[in-house]
Amino acid sequence: MKALNISILGTGDMGGAIATAISRRTRHLLRVRGSQPGSASARRLIDELGVAEATDQDFLASDIVFVVVPAAAIEQAAAILNNYRGIVVAVSVSGSVGQDGLPSAAARMAALLPDATLVSAFTSIWSNVIREPGRSGKTSVFVCSDEDNAKDVVSGLANELGFEPVNGGKLAMALYAEMMGIFAVRLAIDSGYGRKISFHAFRAE
Ligand SMILES: NC(=O)c1ccc[n+]([C@@H]2O[C@H](COP(=O)([O-])OP(=O)(O)OC[C@H]3O[C@@H](n4cnc5c(N)ncnc54)[C@H](OP(=O)(O)O)[C@@H]3O)[C@@H](O)[C@H]2O)c1
Repeated sequence: MKALNISILGTGDMGGAIATAISRRTRHLLRVRGSQPGSASARRLIDELGVAEATDQDFLASDIVFVVVPAAAIEQAAAILNNYRGIVVAVSVSGSVGQDGLPSAAARMAALLPDATLVSAFTSIWSNVIREPGRSGKTSVFVCSDEDNAKDVVSGLANELGFEPVNGGKLAMALYAEMMGIFAVRLAIDSGYGRKISFHAFRAE
């Protein structure tokens, strides 16, 4: 896979897990930023992984920007990416997705970033599994987008990270992929599976 210029906006639990996985398992160029330049969560990753902090210009020059912020912060995150023309991977999930009548986080980002190509991915997978994919089978990463080329790029990256990319269809399907994220939370907490609960899509033949 050609070397990609990847930035991550949102350096908390999930953004940190994705940054760590990309930094340790691939050779792509990686930069990160938290809620503001110099935020403590980004500094920790910069020190630990030896990556750089993303400037506004770095975001605009990226091949891929992962948006891994709370759903309530999507508008602020999108403002940083104004006029960005590359691939945005929407990882954010609202705790009330599917119940509040709102579009998916990915669809909201698509509306805010008309020049970018939106891909929804990694929404139904716990950060713990991103950090430690385990040896009991590959976890599926559902990849949804209206643009097949962008879907291929993100699927290739998911594969490189040790997961099984699954064609999740158009961006409109992101609503269901995000709801699977909430389902994974409920299975982990209410059903006692813990934060290693994973989905694996396969053809039962
Ligand atoms: N945790 C998981 O396993 C998991 C799995 C799938 C999807 N997700 C989704 O991923 C998103 C992040 O979850 P998380 O668990 O990583 O949350 P978290 O630990 O609370 O981290 C949130 C991050 O977003 C940053 N942030 C907040 N407002 C921002 C803004 N306006 N602009 C840029 N960055 C901003 C915070 O920056 P500071 O550190 O500087 O405050 C922090 O780095 C959520 O939408 C969640 O649903 C999480």
